[in-house]
Amino acid sequence: MEQQHDALEQMRETIAQCDAAITEALKTRMACIEQIIQYKRENGVPILQPEQEKKQLDVVKHSTKDSVFRHEIIHIFEGIIENSKRIQAKTLFEKNILLIGFMGAGKTTVSACLGNLLAMEVMEMDAYIQKKEGMSIKDIFAVHGEEYFRNCESNTLISLQERRHVVVSCGGGVPLREKNVELMKKSGYVVWLTATPEAIFDRVKDSTERPLLNGNMRVDFIQDLMESRREKYEAAADIKIDTTNKDIVEICEELLQKLSALEKNKH
Ligand code: S3P
Repeated sequence: MEQQHDALEQMRETIAQCDAAITEALKTRMACIEQIIQYKRENGVPILQPEQEKKQLDVVKHSTKDSVFRHEIIHIFEGIIENSKRIQAKTLFEKNILLIGFMGAGKTTVSACLGNLLAMEVMEMDAYIQKKEGMSIKDIFAVHGEEYFRNCESNTLISLQERRHVVVSCGGGVPLREKNVELMKKSGYVVWLTATPEAIFDRVKDSTERPLLNGNMRVDFIQDLMESRREKYEAAADIKIDTTNKDIVEICEELLQKLSALEKNKH
């Protein structure tokens, strides 16, 4: 009995040593991630390198080929990689990233991609309001009117003030109110996504969920509405990115390079 307890203590001691080694290795790994992101920022190296993550995971997969714990170890490494993305985002930006721009400019797609590549929380403002109000944007406009919907948008921005490291895909009309622009600027970087009216038309032509375009689904209408909003978007934006004919990772990389240049100049 006595001897069995000794064996148990020994195994616990081994586990404690493993935990200490893992903790130290994680501390070194995470500090390295911070240094890498600073290096990339200073030397103009692309920030998003999804292929690098795949390589790291492949090495783990290979070296656990014969282990009975293969799945568990891979699962842990997936968590480590996810955490590394989060560290990158925190090193890059202190606050939130708010995407503005006309309907169909790419806000939803870009926010989802950034959320995925940098493990940032994503807030899709339209979806958030729909959930909170329990009805579609189309119905909110029809039942309560546009002014009510615009108040929902302002309230959402107020509720964002305490949050950090969120990518927010704002509804196309958010920057039209001056108060909203103030709130957005306090909350983080404002990124204006643009595209040609033809590209916008192509992206939104089948949508029935955009009350402002219902019955007006034409390039000339889109062009006029875009032009009437241009000044407001411009006044709100810290940076501007044209999304026409670019692939999504390219757009995210351009966004991160431009924002990290701004952040660098701040320090
Ligand atoms: C609007 C844009 C829509 C939605 C609503 C009004 C606008 O959001 O908020 O239909 O005024 O431009 P998206 O830009 O995400 O389509």
